[in-house]
Amino acid sequence: MKQSSLDHIVSWAKRRGFIFPNSEIYGGMANSWDYGPLGVLLKNNIKQAWWKFFVQNRPDMVGVDTNIIMNPKVWEASGHLQTFTDPLVECKQCHHRFRTDHLLEKTSLEPQYEKEAPPELKDVRCPECGGELTDSRNFNLMFKTYVGPVEDQTSVAYLRPELAAGMFTNFKQVVDTMRTRVPFGIAQQGRTFRNEITAGNFIFRTREFEIMECEYFVHPNEWEKHFDLWLGEIKRWWTEVIKADMNNFYFHEIEAADLAHYSKRTVDIEYHYPFGLKELHGLAYRTDFDLKRHMEASGQDLEYRDPITNEKYIPHVVEPTFGVDRLFLVTLLEHYAEIEGGRDTEGESKHEKEVVFRVPKNLAPIKVAILPLSKKEPLQQLAWEIQTNLRATYQTQYDETGSIGKRYRRQDEIGTPYCVTVDFDSLEDKQVTVRDRDTMEQERVAIVELNDYLETKFV
Ligand code: GAP
Repeated sequence: MKQSSLDHIVSWAKRRGFIFPNSEIYGGMANSWDYGPLGVLLKNNIKQAWWKFFVQNRPDMVGVDTNIIMNPKVWEASGHLQTFTDPLVECKQCHHRFRTDHLLEKTSLEPQYEKEAPPELKDVRCPECGGELTDSRNFNLMFKTYVGPVEDQTSVAYLRPELAAGMFTNFKQVVDTMRTRVPFGIAQQGRTFRNEITAGNFIFRTREFEIMECEYFVHPNEWEKHFDLWLGEIKRWWTEVIKADMNNFYFHEIEAADLAHYSKRTVDIEYHYPFGLKELHGLAYRTDFDLKRHMEASGQDLEYRDPITNEKYIPHVVEPTFGVDRLFLVTLLEHYAEIEGGRDTEGESKHEKEVVFRVPKNLAPIKVAILPLSKKEPLQQLAWEIQTNLRATYQTQYDETGSIGKRYRRQDEIGTPYCVTVDFDSLEDKQVTVRDRDTMEQERVAIVELNDYLETKFV
């Protein structure tokens, strides 16, 4: 996939109300994006589908929704205060700042860069002006804030850089209240913040983003089995729900030497973006690192006692984690299509290039468009009645402007699976024409049967 296709997607996403540049009336805010009316519908549909797939449809999952600002001791125990850093260099001449590992990646000097021990950068010059670079230093990615009116050391707090801590600190409460038995998982979706040194590539790397993840608690002897089961579920998610082409994915088994200190196995699910093969999301075996650290730091007993065997132990954790915004981006990349010459070869709707967003029907932002052939009564009235009737079940859009061909194109471009056309015959025969986005086939359907008809289409 070429970079140009990303440019097309960025401009289409803005033009069609999916994603807008943040604070644009003030000249924007670098690498910050807002979700527009269609973007928020699509994002919510993706999040709901994720929750249904990984939580609702399973007997062993429960959810939580924890705070963005937590007791700062949490981040001391989790190690984020000490080690949640990225390596940073600055140009002595133009003062541009770069992430050391990204710079080395670009110059292919250091493929196996270790975060903990930044290499010397003597052979690398500033990519902006050719100037000399400073030594690499570690930069903590957590956003700092103050709780309450006094800004001093005692009121310092952090915006959460990840969700996992909220699940670990509530582990005991979940077990006690829900009587969950290992193996079981806690899931969460929520906003996180990282002060990235170099954000960019549209919504791929931003400073404020959403994560969806599960902490899945298992018996220490069983982590390998569960890790493999989760790998299978992740593949099933991409193929069955997002309907992605798995040829665009690469499951990268992280080499032992590159594993985080708490992990014994990690698989990065990478994707062939227009800007290269990069991380999409991950699956990590976190051992008992987190519960142990929180036990030590809080002095609370977070051990688990099996209600049947009576065995007492600290559960180990398998963690599947998804970035919502990267998932959203991949959904666009997988299903946005430009058709040269258009799909209609005749008539006024013939176009040089047609855009069709072939997003899975259940995820589409608008499910049904209602298109009356005339703006006047009594067609308009009938079309409104049909929309009111469908609105309780489906996100609908009403469009009465432009030729019918143009209106179909507009709906194809935003991924609407079905268009309902109300014509003059509808007044007599009480039927409408339903057009399918993908096949472009049209069917005459009785208005009273429209709900049942559509129900069979969104399974
Ligand atoms: N609890 C594990 C954890 O937070 P992570 O790999 O650091 O893991 C989770 O982050 C996911 O969040 C990533 O797999 C990626 O999809 C997404 N992500 C990470 N940094 C991001 C950023 N700056 N902008 C957008 N998404 C990001």
